[in-house]
Amino acid sequence: MKRLLLTTAVAVFLAAVGCFALTEANASDSKKAANAKVTFTKDVAPIFYSKCVECHRAGEIAPMSLMSYKEARPWARSIKEKVVTKVMPPWHADPKHGAFSNDRRLSQKEVETIAAWVDGGALEGNPKELPPTPKFVEGWNIGKPDLIFQMPEACAVPASGVVAYKYFNVPTNFTEDKWVQAAEIRPENRSVVHHIIVFIQTKGRQQLLTGWAPGEQPAVMKDGLAKRIPAGATLVFQVHYTPNGKAASDRSYVGLIFAKEKPRNELLVMPVLNMKFVIPAGEANYQVESSYTFKEDAHIRTLMPHMHLRGKDFLYRVTYPDGHSEIILSVPKYDFNWQTYYFLKEPVAAPKGTRVDCLAHFDNSTQNKYNPDATTEVKWGDQTFEEMMIGWMSYTLDKNEVKTGSAEPSAQKVSRNQ
Ligand code: HEC
Repeated sequence: MKRLLLTTAVAVFLAAVGCFALTEANASDSKKAANAKVTFTKDVAPIFYSKCVECHRAGEIAPMSLMSYKEARPWARSIKEKVVTKVMPPWHADPKHGAFSNDRRLSQKEVETIAAWVDGGALEGNPKELPPTPKFVEGWNIGKPDLIFQMPEACAVPASGVVAYKYFNVPTNFTEDKWVQAAEIRPENRSVVHHIIVFIQTKGRQQLLTGWAPGEQPAVMKDGLAKRIPAGATLVFQVHYTPNGKAASDRSYVGLIFAKEKPRNELLVMPVLNMKFVIPAGEANYQVESSYTFKEDAHIRTLMPHMHLRGKDFLYRVTYPDGHSEIILSVPKYDFNWQTYYFLKEPVAAPKGTRVDCLAHFDNSTQNKYNPDATTEVKWGDQTFEEMMIGWMSYTLDKNEVKTGSAEPSAQKVSRNQ
Protein backbone atom coordinates (compact mmCIF):
# COMPACT_ATOMS: atom_id res chain seq x y z
CA MET A 1 0.00 0.00 0.00
CA LYS A 2 2.74 2.34 1.03
CA ARG A 3 4.71 1.54 -2.06
CA LEU A 4 1.71 2.16 -4.18
CA LEU A 5 1.18 5.56 -2.60
CA LEU A 6 4.79 6.39 -3.09
CA THR A 7 4.81 5.44 -6.74
CA THR A 8 1.61 7.40 -7.25
CA ALA A 9 3.20 10.39 -5.62
CA VAL A 10 6.27 10.03 -7.78
CA ALA A 11 4.10 9.65 -10.82
CA VAL A 12 2.12 12.78 -9.94
CA PHE A 13 5.32 14.63 -9.29
CA LEU A 14 6.84 13.48 -12.55
CA ALA A 15 3.70 14.33 -14.39
CA ALA A 16 3.74 17.81 -12.89
CA VAL A 17 7.35 18.27 -13.90
CA GLY A 18 6.50 16.91 -17.29
CA CYS A 19 3.65 19.38 -17.68
CA PHE A 20 5.81 22.19 -16.53
CA ALA A 21 8.55 21.19 -18.91
CA LEU A 22 6.03 20.95 -21.70
CA THR A 23 4.52 24.38 -21.21
CA GLU A 24 7.94 25.90 -20.74
CA ALA A 25 9.57 23.92 -23.51
CA ASN A 26 8.50 26.10 -26.35
CA ALA A 27 5.63 28.19 -27.49
CA SER A 28 4.89 25.93 -30.43
CA ASP A 29 3.61 23.19 -28.15
CA SER A 30 1.15 25.51 -26.50
CA LYS A 31 0.19 26.76 -29.93
CA LYS A 32 -0.46 23.17 -30.88
CA ALA A 33 -2.68 22.84 -27.84
CA ALA A 34 -4.63 25.90 -28.94
CA ASN A 35 -4.81 24.61 -32.51
CA ALA A 36 -6.16 21.35 -31.22
CA LYS A 37 -9.25 23.20 -30.08
CA VAL A 38 -10.01 24.41 -33.60
CA THR A 39 -12.48 21.90 -35.02
CA PHE A 40 -14.27 21.30 -38.25
CA THR A 41 -17.76 21.42 -36.83
CA LYS A 42 -17.34 24.56 -34.74
CA ASP A 43 -14.82 26.70 -36.63
CA VAL A 44 -14.13 25.49 -40.14
CA ALA A 45 -17.49 24.31 -41.49
CA PRO A 46 -19.03 27.82 -41.18
CA ILE A 47 -16.21 29.17 -43.38
CA PHE A 48 -16.52 26.39 -45.95
CA TYR A 49 -20.29 26.80 -46.06
CA SER A 50 -20.13 30.50 -46.75
CA LYS A 51 -16.99 30.69 -48.92
CA CYS A 52 -16.34 27.32 -50.61
CA VAL A 53 -19.31 25.00 -51.14
CA GLU A 54 -20.84 27.21 -53.80
CA CYS A 55 -18.28 25.41 -56.02
CA HIS A 56 -17.07 22.60 -53.73
CA ARG A 57 -20.11 20.33 -53.61
CA ALA A 58 -21.33 17.38 -55.63
CA GLY A 59 -22.12 18.25 -59.23
CA GLU A 60 -20.41 21.67 -59.26
CA ILE A 61 -17.17 22.82 -60.87
CA ALA A 62 -14.60 22.11 -58.15
CA PRO A 63 -12.87 18.70 -58.02
CA MET A 64 -14.07 17.76 -54.52
CA SER A 65 -16.86 18.46 -52.06
CA LEU A 66 -16.17 20.29 -48.79
CA MET A 67 -19.64 19.81 -47.33
CA SER A 68 -18.79 17.22 -44.70
CA TYR A 69 -15.85 16.43 -42.45
CA LYS A 70 -15.37 13.09 -44.17
CA GLU A 71 -15.10 14.74 -47.56
CA ALA A 72 -12.89 17.62 -46.44
CA ARG A 73 -10.45 15.76 -44.17
CA PRO A 74 -8.31 14.10 -46.90
CA TRP A 75 -7.73 17.53 -48.48
CA ALA A 76 -6.60 19.28 -45.29
CA ARG A 77 -2.99 19.81 -46.33
CA SER A 78 -3.90 21.08 -49.78
CA ILE A 79 -6.64 23.31 -48.29
CA LYS A 80 -4.17 25.01 -45.99
CA GLU A 81 -1.73 25.58 -48.82
CA LYS A 82 -4.37 27.02 -51.18
CA VAL A 83 -5.93 29.37 -48.63
CA VAL A 84 -2.61 30.59 -47.21
CA THR A 85 -1.30 31.34 -50.71
CA LYS A 86 -4.70 32.90 -51.58
CA VAL A 87 -5.21 30.68 -54.60
CA MET A 88 -8.55 29.68 -53.05
CA PRO A 89 -11.17 31.04 -53.03
CA PRO A 90 -10.41 32.36 -56.52
CA TRP A 91 -10.49 36.17 -56.69
CA HIS A 92 -8.45 38.30 -59.05
CA ALA A 93 -9.31 41.95 -58.42
CA ASP A 94 -6.63 44.21 -56.95
CA PRO A 95 -8.06 45.17 -53.53
CA LYS A 96 -6.70 48.70 -53.96
CA HIS A 97 -9.48 49.56 -56.43
CA GLY A 98 -13.20 49.19 -56.00
CA ALA A 99 -15.27 47.23 -53.51
CA PHE A 100 -17.36 44.31 -54.71
CA SER A 101 -20.36 42.67 -53.10
CA ASN A 102 -19.34 39.22 -54.37
CA ASP A 103 -15.74 39.50 -53.13
CA ARG A 104 -14.86 35.89 -52.30
CA ARG A 105 -11.68 36.55 -50.33
CA LEU A 106 -11.29 35.14 -46.83
CA SER A 107 -10.52 37.47 -43.94
CA GLN A 108 -7.10 37.07 -42.32
CA LYS A 109 -8.82 35.53 -39.32
CA GLU A 110 -10.55 32.93 -41.49
CA VAL A 111 -7.23 32.00 -43.12
CA GLU A 112 -5.65 31.64 -39.68
CA THR A 113 -8.53 29.50 -38.42
CA ILE A 114 -8.18 27.11 -41.35
CA ALA A 115 -4.38 26.96 -40.98
CA ALA A 116 -4.71 26.33 -37.23
CA TRP A 117 -7.26 23.59 -37.87
CA VAL A 118 -4.87 21.78 -40.23
CA ASP A 119 -1.84 22.30 -37.96
CA GLY A 120 -3.81 20.94 -35.01
CA GLY A 121 -4.51 17.67 -36.81
CA ALA A 122 -7.69 18.64 -38.70
CA LEU A 123 -10.02 17.41 -35.96
CA GLU A 124 -13.72 16.86 -36.43
CA GLY A 125 -15.01 18.19 -33.11
CA ASN A 126 -18.47 17.78 -31.66
CA PRO A 127 -20.98 16.86 -34.39
CA LYS A 128 -23.64 18.79 -32.44
CA GLU A 129 -21.77 22.01 -33.18
CA LEU A 130 -22.03 21.60 -36.95
CA PRO A 131 -24.10 24.45 -38.42
CA PRO A 132 -27.05 23.45 -40.61
CA THR A 133 -25.77 22.42 -44.04
CA PRO A 134 -26.58 25.09 -46.60
CA LYS A 135 -29.60 24.24 -48.72
CA PHE A 136 -29.14 24.07 -52.45
CA VAL A 137 -31.62 23.11 -55.09
CA GLU A 138 -29.88 20.21 -56.78
CA GLY A 139 -28.50 21.17 -60.15
CA TRP A 140 -29.01 24.93 -59.69
CA ASN A 141 -27.24 27.77 -57.95
CA ILE A 142 -30.05 30.31 -58.35
CA GLY A 143 -32.73 28.10 -56.75
CA LYS A 144 -35.57 26.37 -58.55
CA PRO A 145 -36.21 28.16 -61.86
CA ASP A 146 -39.70 29.33 -62.83
CA LEU A 147 -39.00 28.38 -66.43
CA ILE A 148 -36.33 26.42 -68.31
CA PHE A 149 -35.43 26.86 -71.96
CA GLN A 150 -33.38 24.09 -73.56
CA MET A 151 -31.55 24.03 -76.88
CA PRO A 152 -34.06 22.74 -79.46
CA GLU A 153 -31.97 19.69 -80.30
CA ALA A 154 -28.87 17.90 -79.08
CA CYS A 155 -25.69 19.01 -80.80
CA ALA A 156 -23.22 16.36 -81.94
CA VAL A 157 -19.65 17.26 -81.01
CA PRO A 158 -16.89 15.48 -82.96
CA ALA A 159 -14.02 13.73 -81.23
CA SER A 160 -11.42 16.16 -82.52
CA GLY A 161 -10.83 19.30 -84.52
CA VAL A 162 -11.94 22.89 -84.06
CA VAL A 163 -15.69 23.52 -83.87
CA ALA A 164 -16.93 26.95 -84.94
CA TYR A 165 -19.36 28.64 -82.52
CA LYS A 166 -22.82 27.10 -82.78
CA TYR A 167 -25.98 29.16 -82.52
CA PHE A 168 -29.36 27.82 -81.41
CA ASN A 169 -32.52 29.91 -81.44
CA VAL A 170 -35.18 29.26 -78.84
CA PRO A 171 -38.34 31.34 -79.23
CA THR A 172 -39.75 32.37 -75.85
CA ASN A 173 -43.31 32.82 -77.17
CA PHE A 174 -43.76 35.43 -74.45
CA THR A 175 -46.83 37.54 -75.14
CA GLU A 176 -45.76 40.25 -72.70
CA ASP A 177 -42.47 41.62 -71.41
CA LYS A 178 -40.95 39.45 -68.70
CA TRP A 179 -38.57 40.61 -65.97
CA VAL A 180 -35.79 38.20 -65.07
CA GLN A 181 -34.34 38.41 -61.58
CA ALA A 182 -31.95 35.47 -61.96
CA ALA A 183 -30.72 33.36 -64.85
CA GLU A 184 -28.42 30.36 -64.90
CA ILE A 185 -27.06 28.35 -67.79
CA ARG A 186 -26.38 24.66 -67.15
CA PRO A 187 -24.16 22.93 -69.67
CA GLU A 188 -25.59 19.45 -70.11
CA ASN A 189 -22.22 17.96 -71.06
CA ARG A 190 -19.52 19.89 -69.26
CA SER A 191 -16.72 17.80 -70.76
CA VAL A 192 -17.17 19.42 -74.19
CA VAL A 193 -18.77 22.78 -73.40
CA HIS A 194 -16.17 25.49 -73.32
CA HIS A 195 -18.59 28.34 -72.82
CA ILE A 196 -22.17 29.39 -73.52
CA ILE A 197 -23.67 32.83 -73.85
CA VAL A 198 -27.41 33.38 -74.05
CA PHE A 199 -28.57 36.56 -75.75
CA ILE A 200 -32.03 38.10 -75.76
CA GLN A 201 -32.82 38.85 -79.40
CA THR A 202 -35.59 41.13 -80.57
CA LYS A 203 -35.86 43.18 -83.75
CA GLY A 204 -32.96 45.59 -83.71
CA ARG A 205 -31.83 44.80 -80.17
CA GLN A 206 -29.55 42.17 -78.75
CA GLN A 207 -28.85 42.06 -75.03
CA LEU A 208 -26.75 39.66 -73.02
CA LEU A 209 -28.91 37.55 -70.71
CA THR A 210 -26.15 35.54 -69.06
CA GLY A 211 -23.08 33.43 -69.76
CA TRP A 212 -21.51 30.23 -68.54
CA ALA A 213 -17.83 29.39 -68.43
CA PRO A 214 -15.82 27.64 -65.75
CA GLY A 215 -15.75 29.84 -62.68
CA GLU A 216 -18.51 32.09 -63.92
CA GLN A 217 -21.38 32.81 -61.56
CA PRO A 218 -25.01 32.86 -62.64
CA ALA A 219 -26.63 36.26 -63.16
CA VAL A 220 -28.54 37.21 -60.03
CA MET A 221 -29.97 40.70 -60.04
CA LYS A 222 -30.36 42.46 -56.70
CA ASP A 223 -31.75 45.71 -55.33
CA GLY A 224 -34.91 45.57 -57.41
CA LEU A 225 -33.06 45.35 -60.73
CA ALA A 226 -33.99 42.90 -63.47
CA LYS A 227 -33.25 42.12 -67.08
CA ARG A 228 -36.11 42.47 -69.51
CA ILE A 229 -37.09 39.83 -72.03
CA PRO A 230 -39.42 41.68 -74.38
CA ALA A 231 -42.58 40.01 -75.67
CA GLY A 232 -41.82 37.86 -78.69
CA ALA A 233 -38.09 37.72 -77.99
CA THR A 234 -35.93 34.78 -78.99
CA LEU A 235 -33.17 33.41 -76.78
CA VAL A 236 -30.02 32.79 -78.78
CA PHE A 237 -27.58 30.24 -77.37
CA GLN A 238 -24.03 30.81 -78.54
CA VAL A 239 -22.15 27.63 -77.68
CA HIS A 240 -18.45 26.98 -77.99
CA TYR A 241 -17.58 23.29 -77.98
CA THR A 242 -14.06 21.98 -77.52
CA PRO A 243 -13.71 18.34 -78.59
CA ASN A 244 -12.12 16.14 -75.95
CA GLY A 245 -11.07 13.03 -77.89
CA LYS A 246 -14.42 11.26 -77.76
CA ALA A 247 -17.49 12.02 -79.87
CA ALA A 248 -20.13 13.52 -77.61
CA SER A 249 -23.44 15.31 -77.63
CA ASP A 250 -24.84 18.19 -75.64
CA ARG A 251 -28.19 19.86 -75.11
CA SER A 252 -27.67 22.66 -72.62
CA TYR A 253 -30.36 24.79 -71.00
CA VAL A 254 -30.97 28.03 -69.16
CA GLY A 255 -33.19 28.47 -66.10
CA LEU A 256 -34.99 31.73 -65.33
CA ILE A 257 -36.44 33.13 -62.14
CA PHE A 258 -38.84 36.01 -62.72
CA ALA A 259 -38.98 39.11 -60.56
CA LYS A 260 -41.79 38.84 -58.03
CA GLU A 261 -42.63 42.53 -58.31
CA LYS A 262 -42.17 45.16 -60.94
CA PRO A 263 -38.48 45.99 -60.87
CA ARG A 264 -37.09 49.36 -59.92
CA ASN A 265 -34.91 49.55 -63.00
CA GLU A 266 -33.81 47.61 -66.05
CA LEU A 267 -30.29 46.23 -66.06
CA LEU A 268 -28.64 46.85 -69.43
CA VAL A 269 -25.40 45.43 -70.77
CA MET A 270 -22.69 47.10 -72.81
CA PRO A 271 -19.62 45.36 -74.23
CA VAL A 272 -16.86 47.98 -74.19
CA LEU A 273 -14.76 46.30 -76.84
CA ASN A 274 -12.02 46.71 -79.39
CA MET A 275 -11.98 44.31 -82.34
CA LYS A 276 -9.27 46.01 -84.36
CA PHE A 277 -6.01 44.94 -82.82
CA VAL A 278 -3.10 42.95 -84.14
CA ILE A 279 -0.81 41.50 -81.48
CA PRO A 280 2.63 40.95 -83.01
CA ALA A 281 4.26 37.52 -82.69
CA GLY A 282 6.39 37.23 -79.56
CA GLU A 283 5.19 40.55 -78.07
CA ALA A 284 5.07 40.24 -74.27
CA ASN A 285 3.10 43.33 -73.27
CA TYR A 286 0.82 44.50 -76.06
CA GLN A 287 -1.65 47.20 -75.07
CA VAL A 288 -5.22 47.38 -76.36
CA GLU A 289 -7.75 50.01 -75.33
CA SER A 290 -11.49 50.42 -75.71
CA SER A 291 -13.89 53.04 -74.49
CA TYR A 292 -17.51 54.05 -74.21
CA THR A 293 -19.05 57.42 -73.39
CA PHE A 294 -22.44 57.53 -71.68
CA LYS A 295 -24.99 59.53 -73.63
CA GLU A 296 -27.41 59.70 -70.70
CA ASP A 297 -27.10 59.73 -66.91
CA ALA A 298 -26.44 56.19 -65.75
CA HIS A 299 -25.14 54.00 -62.94
CA ILE A 300 -22.53 51.31 -63.55
CA ARG A 301 -23.32 48.07 -61.67
CA THR A 302 -21.14 45.12 -62.71
CA LEU A 303 -17.96 44.57 -64.67
CA MET A 304 -16.43 41.54 -66.34
CA PRO A 305 -13.20 41.58 -68.32
CA HIS A 306 -12.98 39.07 -71.12
CA MET A 307 -9.88 38.04 -73.06
CA HIS A 308 -8.50 34.67 -74.12
CA LEU A 309 -5.27 32.82 -73.36
CA ARG A 310 -2.92 35.71 -74.07
CA GLY A 311 -4.83 38.08 -71.76
CA LYS A 312 -2.45 39.42 -69.13
CA ASP A 313 -4.13 42.27 -67.25
CA PHE A 314 -7.24 44.41 -67.54
CA LEU A 315 -8.53 47.57 -65.93
CA TYR A 316 -11.54 49.89 -66.10
CA ARG A 317 -11.05 53.61 -65.60
CA VAL A 318 -13.93 56.09 -65.41
CA THR A 319 -13.36 59.72 -66.41
CA TYR A 320 -16.11 62.09 -65.32
CA PRO A 321 -17.31 65.17 -67.23
CA ASP A 322 -15.37 67.40 -64.79
CA GLY A 323 -12.14 65.65 -65.84
CA HIS A 324 -11.27 63.67 -62.76
CA SER A 325 -10.84 59.96 -63.15
CA GLU A 326 -10.84 56.83 -61.07
CA ILE A 327 -9.96 53.15 -61.55
CA ILE A 328 -13.04 51.08 -60.69
CA LEU A 329 -11.56 47.61 -61.32
CA SER A 330 -8.06 46.32 -61.88
CA VAL A 331 -7.27 42.66 -62.58
CA PRO A 332 -3.47 42.60 -62.52
CA LYS A 333 -3.14 38.87 -63.28
CA TYR A 334 -5.91 37.94 -65.63
CA ASP A 335 -6.65 34.22 -65.70
CA PHE A 336 -8.72 32.92 -68.61
CA ASN A 337 -9.95 30.03 -66.45
CA TRP A 338 -11.82 32.38 -64.18
CA GLN A 339 -14.46 34.43 -65.96
CA THR A 340 -15.53 36.53 -63.02
CA TYR A 341 -18.28 39.12 -62.68
CA TYR A 342 -17.40 41.92 -60.32
CA PHE A 343 -20.51 43.35 -58.67
CA LEU A 344 -19.78 46.89 -57.52
CA LYS A 345 -20.79 47.28 -53.89
CA GLU A 346 -21.90 50.82 -54.58
CA PRO A 347 -23.01 51.54 -58.13
CA VAL A 348 -20.76 54.11 -59.83
CA ALA A 349 -22.71 57.21 -60.91
CA ALA A 350 -21.87 57.97 -64.53
CA PRO A 351 -23.48 61.27 -65.54
CA LYS A 352 -23.94 61.96 -69.26
CA GLY A 353 -20.53 62.45 -70.85
CA THR A 354 -18.72 60.09 -68.47
CA ARG A 355 -16.20 57.94 -70.32
CA VAL A 356 -15.27 54.37 -69.46
CA ASP A 357 -11.83 53.32 -70.67
CA CYS A 358 -10.73 49.72 -70.64
CA LEU A 359 -7.04 49.02 -70.79
CA ALA A 360 -5.76 45.52 -71.50
CA HIS A 361 -2.38 43.91 -72.05
CA PHE A 362 -1.66 40.73 -73.91
CA ASP A 363 1.34 38.44 -73.65
CA ASN A 364 2.02 36.73 -76.97
CA SER A 365 5.52 35.63 -75.98
CA THR A 366 6.85 32.25 -74.89
CA GLN A 367 6.91 33.55 -71.29
CA ASN A 368 3.16 33.04 -71.23
CA LYS A 369 2.75 29.36 -70.43
CA TYR A 370 -0.83 29.34 -71.76
CA ASN A 371 0.19 30.80 -75.12
CA PRO A 372 -0.76 28.26 -77.81
CA ASP A 373 1.61 29.81 -80.38
CA ALA A 374 4.07 32.66 -79.89
CA THR A 375 5.16 32.67 -83.53
CA THR A 376 2.00 34.15 -85.08
CA GLU A 377 0.35 37.55 -84.91
CA VAL A 378 -3.04 37.39 -83.25
CA LYS A 379 -6.28 39.16 -84.11
CA TRP A 380 -9.86 39.18 -82.85
CA GLY A 381 -11.59 35.84 -83.28
CA ASP A 382 -14.01 33.42 -81.67
CA GLN A 383 -11.56 30.64 -80.99
CA THR A 384 -9.38 30.57 -77.92
CA PHE A 385 -6.23 30.55 -80.08
CA GLU A 386 -7.48 33.91 -81.35
CA GLU A 387 -8.14 36.85 -79.03
CA MET A 388 -10.89 39.09 -77.70
CA MET A 389 -10.89 42.32 -75.77
CA ILE A 390 -14.22 43.03 -74.10
CA GLY A 391 -14.96 45.01 -70.98
CA TRP A 392 -18.46 43.78 -70.21
CA MET A 393 -20.36 46.33 -68.20
CA SER A 394 -23.90 46.29 -66.86
CA TYR A 395 -25.59 49.54 -66.00
CA THR A 396 -28.93 51.23 -65.44
CA LEU A 397 -30.22 54.46 -66.95
CA ASP A 398 -31.37 56.99 -64.36
CA LYS A 399 -34.35 57.99 -66.50
CA ASN A 400 -35.73 54.44 -66.24
CA GLU A 401 -35.77 54.58 -62.46
CA VAL A 402 -39.23 53.81 -61.16
CA LYS A 403 -40.86 55.66 -58.23
CA THR A 404 -38.23 58.16 -57.18
CA GLY A 405 -36.69 59.18 -60.47
CA SER A 406 -33.30 58.73 -58.89
CA ALA A 407 -30.94 55.81 -58.89
CA GLU A 408 -30.33 55.88 -55.15
CA PRO A 409 -31.14 52.59 -53.43
CA SER A 410 -34.52 52.99 -51.76
CA ALA A 411 -33.20 52.07 -48.30
CA GLN A 412 -30.89 55.06 -48.40
CA LYS A 413 -33.78 57.27 -49.43
CA VAL A 414 -35.75 56.26 -46.39
CA SER A 415 -32.95 56.99 -43.96
CA ARG A 416 -32.32 60.34 -45.59
CA ASN A 417 -35.94 61.35 -45.27
CA GLN A 418 -36.02 60.58 -41.58
C1 HEC B 1 -15.81 29.88 -57.54
C2 HEC B 1 -15.58 28.48 -57.28
C3 HEC B 1 -14.71 28.06 -56.13
C4 HEC B 1 -14.70 28.53 -54.84
C5 HEC B 1 -15.61 29.59 -54.22
C6 HEC B 1 -13.68 27.80 -54.15
N1 HEC B 1 -13.07 26.92 -54.99
FE1 HEC B 1 -11.54 25.65 -54.53
N2 HEC B 1 -11.45 25.05 -56.48
C7 HEC B 1 -12.33 25.41 -57.47
C8 HEC B 1 -11.94 24.75 -58.73
C9 HEC B 1 -12.66 24.86 -60.06
C10 HEC B 1 -10.80 24.01 -58.44
C11 HEC B 1 -9.98 23.16 -59.42
C12 HEC B 1 -9.22 23.99 -60.39
C13 HEC B 1 -8.11 24.75 -59.79
O1 HEC B 1 -7.36 24.19 -58.94
O2 HEC B 1 -7.92 25.91 -60.16
C14 HEC B 1 -10.50 24.22 -57.03
C15 HEC B 1 -9.42 23.65 -56.36
C16 HEC B 1 -9.25 23.69 -54.98
C17 HEC B 1 -8.22 22.97 -54.26
C18 HEC B 1 -7.15 22.11 -54.89
C19 HEC B 1 -7.64 20.72 -55.07
C20 HEC B 1 -6.57 19.84 -55.64
O3 HEC B 1 -6.79 19.25 -56.69
O4 HEC B 1 -5.48 19.79 -55.02
C21 HEC B 1 -8.40 23.24 -52.94
C22 HEC B 1 -7.59 22.67 -51.79
C23 HEC B 1 -9.52 24.13 -52.82
N3 HEC B 1 -10.02 24.39 -54.08
C24 HEC B 1 -10.02 24.64 -51.64
C25 HEC B 1 -11.00 25.63 -51.55
C26 HEC B 1 -11.42 26.22 -50.30
C27 HEC B 1 -10.93 25.82 -48.93
C28 HEC B 1 -12.34 27.17 -50.65
C29 HEC B 1 -13.06 28.11 -49.70
C30 HEC B 1 -12.29 28.77 -48.69
C31 HEC B 1 -12.50 27.15 -52.09
N4 HEC B 1 -11.66 26.21 -52.60
C32 HEC B 1 -13.37 27.96 -52.80
C33 HEC B 1 -13.40 26.27 -57.34
C34 HEC B 1 -13.68 27.04 -56.21
